[in-house]
Amino acid sequence: PEVSAPTRELAGRTVVISAGGTREPIDPVRFLGNRSSGKQGYALATVAARRGATVTLLAANTSLPAPAGVTVVPVSTALELQAAVEVAAKEADVVVMAAAVADFRPAHYADAKIKKTFGEPGSPEADAAPTIELVRNPDILAGLVESRGVGASPVIVGFAAETGDEQGDVLAHGRDKLARKGCDLLVVNEVGVDKTFGQDDNTVHILRLGSSHVVDAGPASKELVAAAVWDAVQEIL
Ligand code: CTP
Ligand code: CA
Repeated sequence: PEVSAPTRELAGRTVVISAGGTREPIDPVRFLGNRSSGKQGYALATVAARRGATVTLLAANTSLPAPAGVTVVPVSTALELQAAVEVAAKEADVVVMAAAVADFRPAHYADAKIKKTFGEPGSPEADAAPTIELVRNPDILAGLVESRGVGASPVIVGFAAETGDEQGDVLAHGRDKLARKGCDLLVVNEVGVDKTFGQDDNTVHILRLGSSHVVDAGPASKELVAAAVWDAVQEIL
């Protein structure tokens, strides 16, 4: 669709958006990563800038052009993203955690490339496979909610990538997650190998803490979905 003209709904507001997916290094050539392209986060930044906001985009391993008028800060790991978010959130009216953050990282980083054959050729260990031990990453979103206190700034928006399973459908998982995280809005995204990740279109359900009302957006371009998210944020602001 035609890109909408600049407006001023977010003039005077400072917003921080994380986008992309973190990478957790295993050795100098390998990492644990995920399928997030960063397109939805970039669309959020584009629309916020067009509405007059001062926008910082914390970009985790993306390869997209910087949106016009947006300050892009590159990060890679969850710990780097957490440090960058904590600094940027101090000045922010809104923080949107659109990035896919790795829940775990390797407990140990190997300084040298892990080789396929470890042990003497022909020995029982030679053909064994290594085990990568993981530790939990901090929950950045939950940390933001906790350090903000009750009812204060910034407005905090989470994203949830859900597939639905035998415990419940996508919306049921979304409601549980919103209650658990305590953020103001949760944008629930249906994911699958050919759904959402890297695609230009998206379908989301926007849930608001303490309300049973759901805003459905899409299937539509990630920019139209972004516009629906900012509309919901503006209601809270
Ligand atoms: N998130 C975060 N820090 C993490 C993991 C997730 O800030 N270590 C944020 C994401 O950026 C997103 C929200 O939390 O805004 C929900 O992420 P998601 O992976 O859906 O939720 P989890 O609580 O990690 O639950 P699970 O992966 O078990 O579904
Ligand atoms: Ca997760």
